[in-house]
Amino acid sequence: MGDGIMFYFSDNYEYFDCLDAPESTRFQLLLEPLLGRLKDVQRPLAYQVVRQFCPEGAKVLEIGAGVPLVMEALRVSHGCQCTVADKYLGKGRGPVDAAKINQSFPDIEFIDTYVGEFDPRLREDSFDAVISVSVVEHMAHSELAAFHEDCVRVVKPGGIIFHAVDVSIDGPADQDELIALLRNFIEHPRLTALAPDRMQTLEQARMDPAVFTLSPTMWRRWRQLAPPEFDFSVYRRIASLNIGMRKMQVP
Ligand SMILES: C[S@@+](CC[C@H](N)C(=O)[O-])C[C@H]1O[C@@H](n2cnc3c(N)ncnc32)[C@H](O)[C@@H]1O
Repeated sequence: MGDGIMFYFSDNYEYFDCLDAPESTRFQLLLEPLLGRLKDVQRPLAYQVVRQFCPEGAKVLEIGAGVPLVMEALRVSHGCQCTVADKYLGKGRGPVDAAKINQSFPDIEFIDTYVGEFDPRLREDSFDAVISVSVVEHMAHSELAAFHEDCVRVVKPGGIIFHAVDVSIDGPADQDELIALLRNFIEHPRLTALAPDRMQTLEQARMDPAVFTLSPTMWRRWRQLAPPEFDFSVYRRIASLNIGMRKMQVP
């Protein structure tokens, strides 16, 4: 793949930028208070990636949006046409009140599906951007290949895919395996690089003191949100792995 890979772990400087963002920005208004959670960098990052790589009015799909704050911000500030794919069945301890969320965001289209099921309502080559925040870590490793293939299917040629994934950078083995599987995402034959200078290996992240990780306080709170099989008997640093890709114009 060469230069231009986007596969890196958010750092503290990204978090500081979020803290320093002016109160008046649309994002700040839509975000809950910044509490040093991974979402506090992941949501602004997903928003910025779409704004940076997609034109105004872009068609954007957010997978597993929960309460679709990023979508709403993109709709208002960048004129995006926004679709959410989520069944709202509480997977990953996400919300279940689909009707209330649908009513609260009347300008967003909601499709009750899981990406990875190749639902024909999500049409092939139809989105300028496909994004997710804190979704991929809730999927079984065996589901990831179909999930990724479905993302590639629905994004337009020239469009982008972006995922922010909660991972432990200190193992155990299933976390190392998840990161390795996600590294394979960017090797897909229909995908190419998105951004320059954003490649980091897991080994580099482990040694990097600036990697943004959950504080011990937020780590304890994350217990309620983490995948149930996650091992909390040992403290591990939880970081946001950010992966960006572009679909090639020609296969
Ligand atoms: C932890 S919540 C994250 C919600 C939101 N993205 C956020 O950051 O606040 C995970 C969400 O992903 C959804 N989800 C999990 N797998 C999915 C899939 N394959 N396709 C669509 N949604 C999925 C769940 O239903 C849940 O609402």
